[in-house]
Amino acid sequence: MKGGGGLKNLPKVELHLHLEGGAPPAFIRGLAREKKLDISGIFSEDGSYAYRDFWHFLKVYEAACTTLQTPEDFRRLTLAVLEESAASGVVYSETFLSPDFCGGRDIGAWKEYLLAIREAADEAERTMGITLRGVVTCIRHFGPEKARETALCAAETAGDFITGFGIAGDEKVGAPKDYLWSFDSAREAGLRLTAHAGEWGGPQSVRDAIRDLGVERIGHGVRAIEDLALVDEIAERGTVLEVCPGSNVTLGIYPDFRRHPIAELDRRGVKVTVSTDDPPFFHTTMAREYEELNRAFDWDEGQFLRLARQALDAAFCDADTKAKIAKKLEA
Ligand code: ADE
Ligand code: ZN
Repeated sequence: MKGGGGLKNLPKVELHLHLEGGAPPAFIRGLAREKKLDISGIFSEDGSYAYRDFWHFLKVYEAACTTLQTPEDFRRLTLAVLEESAASGVVYSETFLSPDFCGGRDIGAWKEYLLAIREAADEAERTMGITLRGVVTCIRHFGPEKARETALCAAETAGDFITGFGIAGDEKVGAPKDYLWSFDSAREAGLRLTAHAGEWGGPQSVRDAIRDLGVERIGHGVRAIEDLALVDEIAERGTVLEVCPGSNVTLGIYPDFRRHPIAELDRRGVKVTVSTDDPPFFHTTMAREYEELNRAFDWDEGQFLRLARQALDAAFCDADTKAKIAKKLEA
């Protein structure tokens, strides 16, 4: 099936998408214009986001987020992001939501932003057939104190829409155990847990996230491949990796899709899934991820459907939602 023509229409399940990271650059430019903010430095001449490396990417990301100032901005953002995802065939999107960018972790403000995001999600479900669930995410380089406030926001709003808690940001800052209080609070509130690890940190960072925080999923986790004993352990535990191959290639962790470890991790029995991370920043979409994986590894529709079912199994939503999405995968 080289060429992958029918892949765009395959139903897809995405577990790792940052809501603000899905903001099309034109959308952010429009908000900047409305609010008279000058953030022109974060764009290249062709209008895309411009950054030198991962750490600069985080700065550009945060600069883009300064334009997102009200619940209404987030309602529009959510619709814009889900429109792109639905156009790629995504039927279920588990999306990272950051109270840091939604009113600065104030619980009252967070509830208002969340209401607006939910309103957009309900509209998208009706009009585009895509289901969104949220995973509240703290940001590692903002430090453990802010993460605690984020965890309180998560615990206050845990339920059928906010289903999980996670951590993103600069993996080189601090250690997973610094965030234990936040993860314990989220778990006590009934939230399921995931953590970014094994993207910029090596295998030890994956071990630390699993052992110290007790997460059942790892964001990225691909650098576990550098320690095959760890790969076996992850496979045996059934820890799920939210793999974002295009993100890893664009940020330079691997030179191209062919040399990305997703296929080897899959062969070794690790539960891998496919996601985009921050699609416009990395010039990708779910459809493009599938096309590139088809080209690199000759993965066919059967393989992609198997991975979509694996992702749905690992999703944090309730059983009724899973049953509804499962029907779409079988259709
Ligand atoms: N926040 C948004 N994208 C991220 C990534 N790829 N790694 C860590 N934090 C992020
Ligand atoms: Zn991420």
